Amino acid sequence: MLVEERRGGTILHLRDLKKRGERIVALTAYDCPTARAEEEAGVDFILVGDSMVMAVMGEDTTLGATMDLLVAHTKAVRRGAPGTLTVGDMPFGSYQASVEDAVRNASRFLSEGGADAVKLEGAGPRILERVCALVESGIPVMGHVGLLPQSVKTTGGYRVTPASATDRLVNEARALEAAGVFALVIESVEEAVGRDVTASVSIPTIGIGAGRFTDGQILVASDMLGLTPGFEPRFLRRYAQLYDAMVGAVRSYAADVRSGGFPGRGQVYSPTGEDSR
Ligand code: KIV
Repeated sequence: MLVEERRGGTILHLRDLKKRGERIVALTAYDCPTARAEEEAGVDFILVGDSMVMAVMGEDTTLGATMDLLVAHTKAVRRGAPGTLTVGDMPFGSYQASVEDAVRNASRFLSEGGADAVKLEGAGPRILERVCALVESGIPVMGHVGLLPQSVKTTGGYRVTPASATDRLVNEARALEAAGVFALVIESVEEAVGRDVTASVSIPTIGIGAGRFTDGQILVASDMLGLTPGFEPRFLRRYAQLYDAMVGAVRSYAADVRSGGFPGRGQVYSPTGEDSR
């Protein structure tokens, strides 16, 4: 495969889009069919987020995500979207304790999961040290500032970062850029923060609840597809109501089974092997 053909599935793609002033489209995915649909629809990158344990496993926070789980889901996403930049989200506890942990665990995303890059949260001195070590090891890193779901126990909740914190976030974003991140997620900040952070760095910024002026947008796929009824944050727009569609389909199936309408003649194997419809 020529390098140019694979460019769409590499970190260079995001840089190209930003250079051309084109908005970056991103979604999470945790499984092969969702990833396949996202690749077919042309997303620019897929994040195998640690939000998986909330969206798929019903947990209240992302803290229960593990390396084994996320690597397995990354592998599934890679199979569904072989040509799309795929980022593995480093789970809580996989990079905080030491640089060695960070390099060993991030390497698993690439070697076992088939990811193209990893994402980690925060911008403190220890995180910056991890970013430098990963980049030096040949592992592309996406940063994440603003609301940090893995720090919910220290911050006390899921809060929107106000405009008064803009200077702090700008400094964090610049420090992450200097450490070598190729792109930056900005989560749940007032719009002015998203705008000013984006203007202060040259790497692409990807917002979730960060307003209209970041270089791209990311949403949790199950939220935008309508699989999480009752979750109604201000930043979310639903593009489908799949939960309702699932309930409707299951009700129809149940009604057919109960009435003897399923299976019908078209769903049975006949001795001749002919379609008996
Ligand atoms: O885990 C996740 O889904 C994320 C997004 C919210 C960016 O980190």
